[in-house]
Formats: sequence, structure tokens, C-alpha cells
Amino acid sequence: MLNKKWWHETIGYQIYPKSFQDSNNDGVGDIQGMIQHLDELQELGVNVVWISPINLSPMVDHGYDISDYFQIDPSFGTNEDFEELIQEANKRGIKILMDLVINHTSDQHEWFKEALANPNSDFRNYYVIKEGKDGLPPNNWRSIFGGSAWEQIEDTNEYYLHLFTKGQPDLNWENPMLREELYQMIQYWLDRGLGGFRIDAITHIKKNYDYINVPADGPDNLATVWEHYRDATGIGEFLGEMRDRVFTDNDVLTIAEMDVEDPDKWEEYFGENGYFSTIFDFYHTPYSIQQEKYKEHPVTFIEDMKTKMFAKQVKANGRVLFTNFLENHDLPRALNRWIPESEIHFNSASALAMMYFFLRGIPVIYQGQEIGMVDYPKDSIEEYLDLPTYNNYENYLLEGLSEDEALHQINIECRENSRTPVQWDASEYAGFSTVKPWFDVNPNYHDINYAQQKDDPHSLLNFYKKMAVLRKNKAYQETFIYSDTVPFATEIKGCVAYERQGIESIFVICNMTNQPMQVPVASVEEILLTNGETDIYVDGYLHLKPYQGIIFK
Ligand code: GLC
Ligand code: CA
Repeated sequence: MLNKKWWHETIGYQIYPKSFQDSNNDGVGDIQGMIQHLDELQELGVNVVWISPINLSPMVDHGYDISDYFQIDPSFGTNEDFEELIQEANKRGIKILMDLVINHTSDQHEWFKEALANPNSDFRNYYVIKEGKDGLPPNNWRSIFGGSAWEQIEDTNEYYLHLFTKGQPDLNWENPMLREELYQMIQYWLDRGLGGFRIDAITHIKKNYDYINVPADGPDNLATVWEHYRDATGIGEFLGEMRDRVFTDNDVLTIAEMDVEDPDKWEEYFGENGYFSTIFDFYHTPYSIQQEKYKEHPVTFIEDMKTKMFAKQVKANGRVLFTNFLENHDLPRALNRWIPESEIHFNSASALAMMYFFLRGIPVIYQGQEIGMVDYPKDSIEEYLDLPTYNNYENYLLEGLSEDEALHQINIECRENSRTPVQWDASEYAGFSTVKPWFDVNPNYHDINYAQQKDDPHSLLNFYKKMAVLRKNKAYQETFIYSDTVPFATEIKGCVAYERQGIESIFVICNMTNQPMQVPVASVEEILLTNGETDIYVDGYLHLKPYQGIIFK
């Protein structure tokens, strides 16, 4: 068993600050808005809150482009507001995680401005700047957000590297001076009483700097070459140094945004003495029930997911803890990705929740998920705000899709779907603000909102609370945190069933189909939670209703 750490008991919650709660009615969410809802987060059972970036930013990538690490962006409040948030959260047993964006800064950061203004400045070497070749960029890498990954520096033949938008120049981690500055900044924030960090895009800090052109893979003559700019050989030296300098002694929770595809490397990256506590990995995120291949047979979608999910769980047993999540600010809403549209309702949403919440690992809820918020497809591309959305749209047109088809595709897969303001109540603008918000509220807020669900004992919100209570029940907590996940009844199509084999044996079975399902089980001693009827164990079989989930021992 793993050595116990405080964060093993985490039920995490992600706040996307622009869209959480606007306290001063300027249309943008803010820190005082977060403070207003701390009691509700506590009631939900949350004890760690990760906030997407709130540092000073020109907001080209909605905060993931930081121009001053030491200052809170005025649209979110002041540094004092943030310290107040940390303290108010701590009073309620909640720790705050900041988002650590250290693969790149904003192009408005002083370092970058200095680097451009003065070619002899030390800051030049804080970034990745290279000579172009024959009037072209140093090579044909494509940025993750589309277009060349290089931007020419005005009046020169030099280019800077940006794996994301051109407003986000990549930092040069090869430079020890830069690394030192980052560690000092990290320590500064830890000294304010943080619980830790979610660490952005960290897999990209090491690149294969051979800068050769690679075979183009699209009509733009560019290439996306993950093997050159993700998890490149040698990254461990940087990650290990950061751990030793600022993480180990501070006993913090660090969640890296990264895939670690080779299971043999899991201990190195997020084992007991790994670089991080745990990771947000994306093994499940390319999958969507809306993909053509699943249209006719939605159950094959569940089967594919189940196979992947269990393979990972079983390999993690006894070794590491992953985070388990359905949603974040880079993905469309989970209900739209996992459940056929006509079947999105309390039962399917709660079954989906039960399915992931009791797996081995750290469950994380994304704002609005607990009330079943869904995607908000747009009638026109102009209603979107995010640069990658436009790049993807242009690419679809280049690939030959019509404007309608391209918009449809964007509506399905666009990350902005999860960024609509949280629906707090049925008043105008959903109680998020009293003025028109920075991004439109989903018009379904009359039917889906927090206030209504709070008072309804049978709501999804209250179901999430019950799940949290169960996960934290002292009699079962050890089992839920540390025990092995052992899948069973895997041959039943659309049935996701696993046993947590600990001090107690706890069984989770979710019927992820719209049909009744019979699952043979040896005994049912006590039902701990279900989203449906309880008298369903007859003659050795559980008779589950469509989308019924059950947890029992
Ligand atoms: C991460 C963030 C995403 C951001 C990108 C660049 O993937 O989650 O929102 O755009 O990094 O910082
Ligand atoms: Ca505001």
C-alpha cells in the first residue's frame, strides 16, 4: 500500500474563473465570486479546488498567457482577494491549487518584451529564438493551436517558438537562470498557503532541438510532431530538479497535465517519489459517442471506453493514483460526449458519475458537471471566442467541409462548450451576473440550475453530495482510496462493473445502456448507493433498470 498523504483523500473541483461567479457585475467571474460559493463547495464534499489561471494576463488564451506571475489579474480581483480566498477555503477544510503555466509566458511578459527590445539581454535566452532559413521559419512544426509554431520577430530574420498561440512564447528550460526564476515564483505562491498546483502543458518543456523539417501532414505544409515536442528525452532532469527544489519539502499536491503512455514509467513520473503527485492524462478524451463510428451502436462506445479504462486501472493497482475526471475547460461537456443526446437525464448523468467517481484515484469534478450542464451549440461561428476554435474551423473548410458541416463539427468538439457561465439560478443570466456575461449563458438555465437542484433531494447535485459522503465514509474510505480495482462481468455489453477489493469488498455496477440489464452477483449484503430502486436483487441476479447504477458490499 502507498504511504499515506493528505491529498489521497482529495475530492477535487475545478473552477474556470471567468465563468464561475461574477461578484461585481462586470460580466466576468472573479475571486470574490468564488468566496461566495465556498460553503456550497464544502457541502459538495470538495476539499481541493484547482483554479485555472488568475495571474495578470492579456487573455489571448483566457489566462493561460501570463504577463506577470506575481500579480492577480484585476478582472479577477487583487492579490489580497486571493489570499482571502485561500484563508476562507482553509477554514472550510479546502485547499486551493493554482494553475502553474510555465511552458510559456505571454508575449506581454517583461521578460519577453526585454528579450525583443534588447538582443544582448539575458532575457533573450529565456525563450527559444532561432534564425529563419531562406525566408522561412526555422522548421515546419505546426503549433498545437494551428499555423506555424514560429513567429517572426519584426525586422529580423529571427523567429520565436510558440507551441500554442503566438501570444504564448515558449520558455527555454535549458537555461538554468530561467528555471531558478520559476522556482522562486513557485515558492512565493506556496508561502501564501496554497495546497499545490495543477501544472499546465508541462510535457512540452523539453523539445528535441534539432529543428529539422519533417514531412508535412496537412494542406498547410506543416507537421504536428508530438515526439519532438512532448515528453522529449531528458525531460526528467528538469522535472526532478523542480520536485527537489520546490515540491518535496512543501508536501504539496501537484497534478501534471500530461500523458505517460509507458506504464513502466508511471512510478518515475507520479509514484511515491515521482516528479508529481498525480497526473491529468487524456487517454479517454479523444472518444466521443458522437463520432460516426459509434452512431449506430452506442454500446460499442461504452465497451471501447471500458476496455481502456480498466486496462489502466488494473495496471495502476498497488502502484500509483491517477486523477479520474470526465470534464475540464478543454473539453466539451461529458454528458454530450458519453450519452446519446435523447438519453441525457438524471439517470444517465448519475450512472456516469458513479462509474468514474469510485475508481482507484482522485476524483475531480468540473464546475457545472454536478448539475448536469451540457454543451451549447452555436448558430454561427462568430459566437465563439477562442483562437483554436477558429483555426480548427478554417482547417475543416480547407479539408473541404461546407460552412455548415464545419460549424457542426466545431459545435460537437469545441472546448468552449464547457466555458459557458455556471447556471446558479433561473434569473436573467442564470445568477452568474446581472449584466450580459463575457460568454453567453446556455439558454437552458431555466431547466438546469443550481438553486433548483439544491432544494430537490432527487437532483443530480444532491446525488453528487451522496457520492462524496460515501467516498469519505470512514468505514470505506481506505478501500476507496487504496484498494485494487478488479473489473468483473466485463462480457455484458454496456455494463461497467468493478470491485474495490480492500478491507471491505465494495462493488460498483453501472448499466450504461437504455435497456434493462441482469447481472449475476453472489450476494448483496448492503446497498450503499443507487440512483434507482433498491429491491432489485432476485435469485442471484441484480435486475438493473436502464442507466441504473448501484454500489453495494
Ligand atoms: C493547457 C490548458 C489549455 C491551454 C494550454 C496552453 O492545455 O489546459 O487551456 O490553452 O495548456 O496553456
Ligand atoms: Ca467580475
